[in-house]
Amino acid sequence: MAVLVLGGTGFIGSQLVTQLQQRGEQVRLVTRNPQRAQQLFPQAQVFPLAALAEAVDGCTGVVNLAGEPIIGRWTVARKQAIQESRRGGTQRLVQAIAQAQVRPQVLVNASAIGYYGASETAVFREDSPPGQDFLAQVCQEWEQAAQPGQGVRLVIFRIGIVLGMGGALERILPPFRAFLGGPIGSGQQWFSWIHQTDMVNLLLAALDDPAWTGVYNATAPQPVRMAQLCQTLGQVLQRPSWLPVPGMVLELLLGDAAQVILTGQQVLPQRVQAMGFCYQYPTLTPALENLFHPGLS
Ligand SMILES: NC(=O)c1ccc[n+]([C@@H]2O[C@H](COP(=O)([O-])OP(=O)(O)OC[C@H]3O[C@@H](n4cnc5c(N)ncnc54)[C@H](OP(=O)(O)O)[C@@H]3O)[C@@H](O)[C@H]2O)c1
Repeated sequence: MAVLVLGGTGFIGSQLVTQLQQRGEQVRLVTRNPQRAQQLFPQAQVFPLAALAEAVDGCTGVVNLAGEPIIGRWTVARKQAIQESRRGGTQRLVQAIAQAQVRPQVLVNASAIGYYGASETAVFREDSPPGQDFLAQVCQEWEQAAQPGQGVRLVIFRIGIVLGMGGALERILPPFRAFLGGPIGSGQQWFSWIHQTDMVNLLLAALDDPAWTGVYNATAPQPVRMAQLCQTLGQVLQRPSWLPVPGMVLELLLGDAAQVILTGQQVLPQRVQAMGFCYQYPTLTPALENLFHPGLS
């Protein structure tokens, strides 16, 4: 019996696959680039997109993390790719699950806190209504597509900004490293983050424990405002953190995805905490210390 991961070559997925393999699980990967995936994970069973049905059949659980990256310019074509890779990709996965002779017990599907739209004042919990902007629309369609049908447990994680070596953090580091870091944009916008270790542990918990079901905010219990993130980053990197980074600089680094950082949302993981999930990094300073000075924490 095996776990199938879509998006298993990515920032979060590759850490999940490593953890699954370390605990002795057989991992199947569905990927656009089988050769690259096989090189990354020689012990995994690798399938091209066209063999999705075969990959799904007989596995115990499925984790769907696949999606066109949002970093870069959102041309019409990119927006379509961002939308289609999530809605269409998830629809095709759900279809394959429905047609499988031996169905998985659980589908763990990614979504994002962009579901809620942006606000400097609101507090978003899992039952808060969706926002109106492009990413909120993408997330709603993504979640609606993830309906694997009777008998298959569904867990959806609305993922916050994952802190790790890769992802958004890597992109906002250059100004800090160059001694120029400071509050990004107004500094008042919220930054709902999660450490990469906790993100992977959430995915594993959802695969393992049948008590997990429905939608969960995958964020740390203490989101911060951007000014606090930048101040803490400055302290941990031992760099000054007083020169504001204009939004324009961030747009150069992230393209239209800069708006995810320049506007934000305060998201609380109410349902994750109700499950009694034990965060390794519930607060920001130890999370950043672990990433930048791993020997010390
Ligand atoms: N990282 C974060 O902070 C964060 C926050 C919120 C939500 N999320 C969501 O969580 C998921 C995983 O995040 P991540 O940071 O690990 O993403 P990532 O590093 O960009 O990896 C995503 C994976 O999806 C596959 N992929 C890329 N473009 C695709 C396309 N057009 N069609 C089909 N598959 C495609 C790729 O696998 P192959 O090349 O092997 O096919 C890639 O490895 C994503 O859907 C992301 O939107 C992430």
